[in-house]
Order: sequence, then structure tokens, then C-alpha cells
Amino acid sequence: MKIAVIGTGYVGLVAGACFAENGNDVICVDKDPAKVRTLQRGRIPIYEPGLEELVRRNRAEKRLTFTTNLPRGVRASQIVFIAVGTPTGEDGSADLRHVMDVAREIARVMNGYKVIVDKSTVPVGTADKVREVIRKETSHPFSVVSNPEFLKQGAAIDDFMKPDRVVIGAEDPRAAEIMVKLHQPFTRTGAPIMVMDCPSAELSKYASNAILATKISFMNEIANVCDLFGADVDRVRQAVGSDKRIGSSFLFPGVGYGGSCFPKDVKALTKFSSDKKYDFKILKAVDQVNEYQKRVLVKKIESHFGGSLKGKTIAIWGLAFKPKTDDMREAPAIPIVEALLAKGAKVQAYDPEAMKVAKGIFGSKITYAAKNYDALKGADALAVVTEWQEFREPDFARIKKMMRSPVIFDGRNIYQRDSMKTLGFTYFSIGR
Ligand SMILES: NC(=O)c1ccc[n+]([C@@H]2O[C@H](COP(=O)([O-])OP(=O)(O)OC[C@H]3O[C@@H](n4cnc5c(N)ncnc54)[C@H](O)[C@@H]3O)[C@@H](O)[C@H]2O)c1
Repeated sequence: MKIAVIGTGYVGLVAGACFAENGNDVICVDKDPAKVRTLQRGRIPIYEPGLEELVRRNRAEKRLTFTTNLPRGVRASQIVFIAVGTPTGEDGSADLRHVMDVAREIARVMNGYKVIVDKSTVPVGTADKVREVIRKETSHPFSVVSNPEFLKQGAAIDDFMKPDRVVIGAEDPRAAEIMVKLHQPFTRTGAPIMVMDCPSAELSKYASNAILATKISFMNEIANVCDLFGADVDRVRQAVGSDKRIGSSFLFPGVGYGGSCFPKDVKALTKFSSDKKYDFKILKAVDQVNEYQKRVLVKKIESHFGGSLKGKTIAIWGLAFKPKTDDMREAPAIPIVEALLAKGAKVQAYDPEAMKVAKGIFGSKITYAAKNYDALKGADALAVVTEWQEFREPDFARIKKMMRSPVIFDGRNIYQRDSMKTLGFTYFSIGR
């Protein structure tokens, strides 16, 4: 099939590369010329495991091209995906400016029947709005489809190639058929392709992210209660997660969720519900708990040092909002580092992939270590903020030697409490 993907970010680039991998001809369009130039040179602007190789292979096979020229992409394609950002607006709603701009641009250059697909996460009712905007601008036939994306950064290719399900919101049977055909190669293992109305498809995405965020905030609260009563959240988590009705994933407490999706989607679902006079109480609490949780580690650090962090050096391991990505959008590391600095601490940070992004955020306010152990030089404490694999089994003797005092604040519960004691560390974690 001939496909254009408008917006070549985490979602658009993965979708484009994966569609090309299955033999389709894909033109990826982005308005950012620097990004497109990087991609045309065979390099990728983000870190996502396996993506560079996938892009390289499909570029070489000439199934995948990159351009800033939207008209060219649209005219050459039958299916046009909109995969631009939908950031949080000032009132908490999803800002649809980019989606609507792109819809208008597509409509103006259409040269025949197109299936126009909302791949971005958009509030319920957006497919109707997109349809209206396009209808005003063109006399060519078209269908608007909602096809929310469920991939996880860090495992995006696997998720896209082998999805748990594909959701297609389509009122028009012709468009539904094209979309089903496009996705059949991805669902050979039996994952369902669910065709439904657009509002249900749009809401499915928000409901999925909201329930995952709820699980995280709920477990963070359980961890905070564990701290108060001397219970061990690991034990509680295992006991709770063994119940098949609950399941064991997304029950790990920590320093709060971040990223470009959960925070914004929780806020957007709350907002578009309230626009219809519905007060989504649980989600408001989920968001509040998350804001609180981002401060828990700093509180523990402050209290250990007797209330003042002046003159203290804190090493930070992990800045990305989660492992296997360089993405720091809404990363808990940001408020954590800011709070440490505000309390007078010096921060020495290391992340395997997010250093460049971090430099853009913190500038010269913190120092950046070239290797994980370098961040520990003369540190009064180490705070683990992102659970990268390489932090899980470090050389503790070396850590101890490098630090001024052997104190670890483990924001992701990656170390064993008992062995930390045996190794001679003063050790704090979340809910244990
Ligand atoms: N990141 C994720 O893990 C994920 C997962 C599922 C769904 N989503 C959703 O997918 C959407 C995209 O997210 P993302 O993380 O890929 O965003 P992103 O910011 O990484 O990428 C968006 C891209 O769109 C481009 N763009 C913006 N306006 C444009 C225009 N008018 N013409 C051409 N290009 C334009 C930007 O330059 C940018 O490269 C969002 O709605 C998000 O909620 C994201």
C-alpha cells in the first residue's frame, strides 16, 4: 500500500518504519527540516532500540523516504496517517492545533480518495472535527479513521510489529476494509483487529493509559502506607499481583510516572469529561498522587541529611522517564533535580541515553558524568531515578570507594534491602 505518515516523532517514525518493513511504500513527512535531514542521512533523531537498523534497511530498499514536502507525501499515498503531537494545553486539554493544521493541509492538496487516519492520541469527537475541516477544503472523496497507537517507548518496534490488539474506529466500511488489510500482517499471531465507531476507538486509548496510570499511582500510595507501617511493598505487590483478576504488571512503586503520554492523557481525559459536566474524580486523584510521588525521594534525602542539603553532592543515576529511551518529557528526574538544587545540593548526573536531552533542560546547573561510576565521585548520596539495566548489578565495592558516604536512595526498588545492609550501605527505597 502507499502510505504517508505526517509527523515523524516517536510514533510516526516507528509506524512508518514498521509499515515499510511489511512491504508498504511509506513517505514520512515532518515539518522540522533538521529532523528530516538527519533521517535522510540515515541517522535517527531519537533513541529507540532497533529503530535505526529498521530505518536503514527500509531506506536502502527504497520503501521508506523522508521529506518536509507534505503535498508530495499526500498525493503519492492512499492512506495518510496523522501522527503529530497533542501536547497538554493550558487548561489541561489536548492541544489539537497540530492535528487540525495537518488535516487542513492534507485536504488542500488531495488528488483523489484518501483514508485519513488519526494516529495521534486525540479526545473523543476529534474524528468528527477532522472530517469537518477536511470537508470544507476539498471536493475529493475521503474517509476519516481513528487508529490509536498503544506502543511503549523502549519496546516500540516489538509492540508495533506484534500488537496486543489493533483498534480501528471507522464509520465507513471501505476505509475499515483498507485498514484491516493493512494491519493483517501484524496480527498473524491471533491478536484481534477491533473495528468500532470513532468515539469508542478514541476513548479506548485514553481508558488504557488512564488505567495504567491509576495502577501506578495506587501502588505508590500503597508503598507510602508500607513506609508508615513497616510493611514491605515487594511482598504486598507479589501477593496482590498473583491474583489473576489484578495481574502483576504495572504494580511497581517508584518516583511517579512521566513521559509524553500518561500525564497528558490523564489530564486530557479529566478535561474532556468535565467539558461534558462529568467530574472524573479518580483521575484527578491519580494525577495528584503522581505529583506528590515525584517529591517522595527528595523528602527522604532531605530528612536523612537532617533537613539541609547545603554543601551536599547528590549523584543521580537515570534521567529519562523510563529505561531504553532518551525521552525526558515529564520525567520525574526533572522535579527531583530541580528540588535538590533548590535545597542547595550539587547534582552529578548520568543517564545512558538522555544526557544530550538533559543538557538542554538543566544546562550548567548540574554536572554530567561520562560514565555511571563517574557520577559518584565525592558524592554524599546516590539517588537511582530510572531503572536502567546497567544500574541493576553494579560493583558495590567500587561505588563505596568513590562516594564520600555510602548512602543510596533507590527510587525504583532495584536493589535487595538485606544485601545493601550487608554491603555496608545506608539504604532507602520506596515502601520497604
Ligand atoms: N510517544 C509515545 O510513546 C506514544 C504512544 C502512543 C501514542 N502517542 C501519541 O502519538 C502522538 C505523537 O507522539 P510522539 O511522541 O510521536 O510526538 P513527537 O513530538 O515525538 O513527534 C511529533 C512530530 O510531529 C511533527 N509535526 C508537528 N506538526 C507538524 C506538521 N504540521 N507537519 C508535519 N509534522 C509536524 C513534529 O515536528 C514532531 O517531529 C501524540 O498524540 C501522542 O500522545 C505517543
